[in-house]
Amino acid sequence: MTICVCFLPDNVTVDAEVGESLLDVADRAGVSIPTGCLMGSCHACTVELEDGEVIRACISAVPPESQKLTINLFSDPTW
Ligand code: FES
Repeated sequence: MTICVCFLPDNVTVDAEVGESLLDVADRAGVSIPTGCLMGSCHACTVELEDGEVIRACISAVPPESQKLTINLFSDPTW
């Protein structure tokens, strides 16, 4: 099953498979999520979902519950 993943704030949309790692999806979308440990312990890769849930991208996969997933990147390139 294919899910439409939308990355904010740039509004980049890409199709993803359920279970695919969010880092892979972001990579394919040309969006960079900052990473560090890749093991879920440094929180460098923290992103926020549409409902306000904060997740670590490196240990997260595309969930099967919805047809569309919106991911809000905290990193602001103008900082
Ligand atoms: S890269 Fe360290 S928690 Fe994800």
